Amino acid sequence: MKFSKFGEKFTRKAGITQLMDDLGDALANDDILMLGGGNPAHIPEVQARFRKRMESILSEPGEFESMIGNYDGSRGNAAFIEALAEMLCETFGWNISPENIALTNGSQNAFFCLFNLFAGDMPDGSKRKILFPLTPEYIGYADTGLTDDFFVSKRPSIELLDDGLFKYHVDFQGLEIGDDIGAICVSRPTNPTGNVLTDEEMRHLDELAREKGVPFIIDNAYGTPFPDIIYTEASPIWNSNTVVCMSLSKFGLPNFRTGIVIASKEIASAIADINGVMCLAPGGLGARMAIDLIRDGEIMRISQEIIQPYYQRKAFQTLEWFREELGEVPYRIHKPEGALFLWLWLKDLPCTSAELYERLKARNTLVIPGHHFFPGLEADDWPHKHECIRVTYAQDDETVHAGVKIIADEIKKIYG
Ligand SMILES: Cc1ncc(COP(=O)(O)O)c(C=O)c1O
Repeated sequence: MKFSKFGEKFTRKAGITQLMDDLGDALANDDILMLGGGNPAHIPEVQARFRKRMESILSEPGEFESMIGNYDGSRGNAAFIEALAEMLCETFGWNISPENIALTNGSQNAFFCLFNLFAGDMPDGSKRKILFPLTPEYIGYADTGLTDDFFVSKRPSIELLDDGLFKYHVDFQGLEIGDDIGAICVSRPTNPTGNVLTDEEMRHLDELAREKGVPFIIDNAYGTPFPDIIYTEASPIWNSNTVVCMSLSKFGLPNFRTGIVIASKEIASAIADINGVMCLAPGGLGARMAIDLIRDGEIMRISQEIIQPYYQRKAFQTLEWFREELGEVPYRIHKPEGALFLWLWLKDLPCTSAELYERLKARNTLVIPGHHFFPGLEADDWPHKHECIRVTYAQDDETVHAGVKIIADEIKKIYG
């Protein structure tokens, strides 16, 4: 069989596909300690809310039938979009209307559309790229470009903090935005590190993007106002040059694949057009499950009072366990500021993080080796890329604690 260039590109078995297969296998195997995936926790209070909502949909005459039996428009469920626009205007004072919003099948799908909207082959024959001003950055962005050589990114500056912590910052000195940049993108909070870019960094990036006349894409999958998995001060930003992408996944509905793009009317409308071609309309189950929570603002209360403290406790508990177990090892951990992960930096590790991953896998413990999180920096032989691992703390405490013990034990053996 002959595949097109598109077929070849998207069926190329990247290292990450192998990792995702390992993670998939792990879910089916109870003996594996799963500290690798990005699945959000099953938080009982949140799940109970959704169970109640589903029961009310089932008991209300006609609601279930319309939920399963009607397509939404290509922009996504209109009632949900209207309620969301109203909530964002009221909460943050953003100047938006429903025309500034489009839904997608998960925010992953939104990034595929947005990146290819702004980068790749341009109509005038030139090529443009997506810039990640700070790596490590989300693994899911890699390989989303329809053409090769699609991303460019920068090393961060590293601030060493007390208590074995550190924090990445955007290195503005080394940051040049050439004419070949189509858009700038950051995740905030960042997957894999739990970093939250400061308000000042965001303001500066926003300014650079506007000066260059390119959109500033902000991946808010873990951000405010929902699911609000942020443990530090961070002001939300939106203006007509930013593209804020949100998701219902980390709020607890990953399987309903609901992504949200909030952008200029032109960009939101382009996303709706792409939806029309790619899938007619985004699935509307997530929107129907969450609409009441948006209308009465409960989505923010649940985020702040249930989801955020749930993960914050787990983040600091896991940090404590690593401190207890790792002892004298020359490790540092990125300051946990949000998301579901701890990012361990093992300075001068005598093997690569990929080898550490294999050794841990042999002990039924899954993490993600750090070198996958540098999209656009593949050619850079910076040793730091091979000295880090991402550990997810979303699983139950017993699993995370057992995993931390094995990870620490293996790391100590490697340092000898
Ligand atoms: C930073 C970040 N952005 C986007 C996504 C995509 O999530 P979804 O497609 O479920 O909305 C994820 C998923 O883990 C993520 O971590």
